[in-house]
Amino acid sequence: MARLRLGILISGRGSNLQALIDACAAPSFPATVALVISNKAEAAGLDRARAAAIPSQVISHREPDFEAAIDAALRGAGVELVCLAGFMRILGADFVNGWRDRLINIHPSLLPAFPGLGTHRRVLAAGEAVAGCTVHFVRPEIDAGPIILRETVPVLPGDTETSLAARVLAAEHRLYPAAVRQVAKMLAKDGGSAISLRRN
Ligand code: GRF
Repeated sequence: MARLRLGILISGRGSNLQALIDACAAPSFPATVALVISNKAEAAGLDRARAAAIPSQVISHREPDFEAAIDAALRGAGVELVCLAGFMRILGADFVNGWRDRLINIHPSLLPAFPGLGTHRRVLAAGEAVAGCTVHFVRPEIDAGPIILRETVPVLPGDTETSLAARVLAAEHRLYPAAVRQVAKMLAKDGGSAISLRRN
């Protein structure tokens, strides 16, 4: 079976990108990383792409046609599924709708709870007993869209934002590859009509 071609969008550290690169290294994994795009030239994740000999590109959000340029690069590389992995720009409705059900994101909370930034601080302030992470299809509304997978982790007594973030991040690194595997399965099943595909 042909492997699903991933395009991964990053802005920084790229530890989730690394988790996907590592997963794709297994011959049985149903996807491969075709292209990494960063909106920041200094993103450490670019070094991870280079180390794995994966094509990468910097497309600055200061460019006038930022989203059109990303779209063209992804389509040019034959990307079939776009994974946002710490990509810190909000994508417009045209882009999001153009990749409907082919665009997924990882968020460090149990969505629909705690959308947006500062999730760990807010989870601790709310006195939650559990935290976690979510991979979901992207819709134009922020941190919305059908949920693919979630993983729960405990909030422990004495947790700080740092300790909780580290526990959630370890879960993210398991969850993102698992979610990609699931989407690859969905897309392989009857040519992807199992989920609505409306690409431009
Ligand atoms: C992760 O916590 C992810 O959930 C959020 O941004 C962070 C990115 O981390 N969207 P990394 O760049 O993958 O290390």
